Amino acid sequence: MLKQDVYGCDITISSHDALIAWNKTLHGFLAHSASTGITLGETLEFEPEFALAQSCKGLFSLLLGRKELNEVATEAFLNAKASDKANPVTERERHFISALGGWLQGNLRTAIAEMETVLTKWPHDALAMKLSHAIMFMLGDSKNMRTSLENIFDVYHGHQAEGYFNGCYSFTLEETGEYKRAEMYGRRALELAPDDAWGLHAITHIFDMTGRAKEGLEWIDGKETAWQHCNNFRYHVWWHIALMHLDLGNYDKVLELYDEDIRKDKTDDYRDISNATSVLLRLEFEGVNVGDRWQELSDLAATRTDDNCVAFADLHYMMAFCGNFDEKPATQLLSNMQSAETRHHSELTAIIHKPGVLAATGLEAFRDQNFTLAHDCLTKARPTLQAIGGSHAQRDVFERLAIESALRGGLRTQAKTLLQERDLHRGYKDGYSESRWRVIENGSQGGAQQVAGVAAKNID
Ligand SMILES: [Fe+2]
Repeated sequence: MLKQDVYGCDITISSHDALIAWNKTLHGFLAHSASTGITLGETLEFEPEFALAQSCKGLFSLLLGRKELNEVATEAFLNAKASDKANPVTERERHFISALGGWLQGNLRTAIAEMETVLTKWPHDALAMKLSHAIMFMLGDSKNMRTSLENIFDVYHGHQAEGYFNGCYSFTLEETGEYKRAEMYGRRALELAPDDAWGLHAITHIFDMTGRAKEGLEWIDGKETAWQHCNNFRYHVWWHIALMHLDLGNYDKVLELYDEDIRKDKTDDYRDISNATSVLLRLEFEGVNVGDRWQELSDLAATRTDDNCVAFADLHYMMAFCGNFDEKPATQLLSNMQSAETRHHSELTAIIHKPGVLAATGLEAFRDQNFTLAHDCLTKARPTLQAIGGSHAQRDVFERLAIESALRGGLRTQAKTLLQERDLHRGYKDGYSESRWRVIENGSQGGAQQVAGVAAKNID
């Protein structure tokens, strides 16, 4: 039986209760709400044969980048196919099944193409809009993320999901360097959808890229309602707040946020691990002693050395091992990254192979204080590093790593080049950039504290 979802798309569903739960799922997915998984589960409890929900269960599972969830996604795919065979679904819904099937075969671009086809024919489908955005984010493909939204821009004027659309659009504008327009759409997103955590978060990216940490902290203060309903995405918003404090040199506050918010729950989601590892490494670049905080991250990452689902995840697991000087899991992970593509070719393992292995080798070399090798590997990885996925702010930890390697390895000219390129890319200097330019201008090189230009701090 056909019904319509909250955005006016036909869905092959018969249970009214399932429809209510499905509409909540759509809203939850757009808002990054913690309730999304719960309402999706309810939808499928009411109607297990609902092929679109099965497809989304599979796609949401793959977005989590965990090896064991491949089985969950495969089962969901088979369920969706069986439902379609027993009771043919709509053409639009079938594209979601194909998207899941393509991704399971290692073709992420197929999944994106399926979502883009949906948006061509049914541009008002906010689920496809957000899914396409989320999948392309895993490839760091900000240019096409923006194009995808601009193709359907007019349809979202007056659309029920206009706020969330604007939040997504703001993020893509920021990632493609149009900060003023990005800020305008981000603010508009929050006016229309006060729980649009992604839109709020897009604005924190703008403050980061434009070196306006103080203003960013003032702006976000009191806006908790936009993101406290979130799933683990809320840790990422805390991470952005911590980065702004870091840029202002408020290291005690960064550690407080780390302990009380970013790592309040010792989760092993790769995005949570990436928030944690990259803030600890940034703190260490500033000469801050982070105590034994690497330990739990390394322990959790050690269970994931053969995941090889997403290069971004593998590299942050490697960061945890290097931060904790755990050589054995680091060696294991690097070996698995080197063989991942041979064992299972896919678009994602190809990225793990290159530039992933280069960046991981750079991390290991930095740990071993072989700064020349670290610089060499990281600068070779750099031109294609965007493909590991995530945002400029997230990948900036690798920019800093390359710069620190050059500074500590006495490669002054190379350090200048890297800093100039970072400044040019951002368009603005932040606290990090200014401190490293001071180091270069003063001609100092060598140990970590001298390079960082700050006094070593012992804060646990
Ligand atoms: Fe972010």
